Amino acid sequence: MYIFDTHAHYDDDWYDEDRDVLLKSMKEKNVKKICNIGATLKGCADTLKLIDEYDFFYGAIGVHPTEIEEIEAMGEEAGLALLREYLAHERVVAVGEIGLDYHLDSCDDEVKGLQKKWFRLQMELAQELKLPLVIHSRDAAADTYDEMKAADAGQIGGVVHCYSYSPEMARQYVDMGFMIGVGGVVTFSNGRKLKETVEAIPLESIVLETDAPYLAPVPYRGKRNSSAYISYVAEAIADIKKIPVEGVYETTYENAHRLYRLTM
Ligand code: NI
Repeated sequence: MYIFDTHAHYDDDWYDEDRDVLLKSMKEKNVKKICNIGATLKGCADTLKLIDEYDFFYGAIGVHPTEIEEIEAMGEEAGLALLREYLAHERVVAVGEIGLDYHLDSCDDEVKGLQKKWFRLQMELAQELKLPLVIHSRDAAADTYDEMKAADAGQIGGVVHCYSYSPEMARQYVDMGFMIGVGGVVTFSNGRKLKETVEAIPLESIVLETDAPYLAPVPYRGKRNSSAYISYVAEAIADIKKIPVEGVYETTYENAHRLYRLTM
C-alpha cells in the first residue's frame, strides 16, 4: 500500500520550523512520492530546491491565476523564458498550477483577461514541452472548460486539481482525457458535491492529493495538512465506491504515475 500525493506545497512557510523532520517521516507513513506544485515564481524556485533535496519529490512549475502580477510585470518574453528554465529540470513532471480563479470580488474583466492570457501561454508551453497540466479552477467553470477546449488541452491531458464543480462537468473533463484530483474536501460534511463526483466517475480517473498545507481532511480540518493524512481521503473514497481501501490505494497510485508519466 503506497501513497502518491499528487499536489502539495511544502515550500509554504508553514513548514519552516519542521520541514525536514516531517518530510523524512513520510516513507514510514507509506507516502512514497510527492509532487510539489509551484504557484508563484518563488514557489517554483523553491520547488526545484525541494526536488534536489528529496529523492521522492517531483515538481510542477507554473503560475497560479491569482499570482500572475509578478510574471506579468516581467513581460511575456522574460516571464516565459524563466518558466522554461525552471521546466528544464529533469524531475519536473508537469506545468501547473495554472488556470482561472474568479473567486475574489476584485476580479474584474481586466483581471480575467490577464488570467486567460497566462493560462493560454502556459498551456502552449506545456504542449511544446509535452508535459501534462495541473489545472486550478475556482468559480470559473465555463471559461476554464472553454479555454481548455480551445487550446486542445486534451492532447496533453493532466489533472483538474481540487475539483469543485458538478459531477456532469467532471465527466466532461474525464472524456477530455483529464484526471480529477480529490483531497480533504471529500471528508467534509459540506463536501456533498465532491462525493457525488467521486461516485460518478471511474476510480481510474481519480488521483489523491492534499493541497498541503491547506484543506486538511476531517479530523484535522482547519489545521496544517500533511501527505500522511491522505489515508482519510482514501477511506472516504472507499466508502463512496463501496470497495476495500486497498483498491483505492492501488488504483490511485497507478493513476498518479500515468498522470505524471512516471514508471512505478
Ligand atoms: Ni494547490
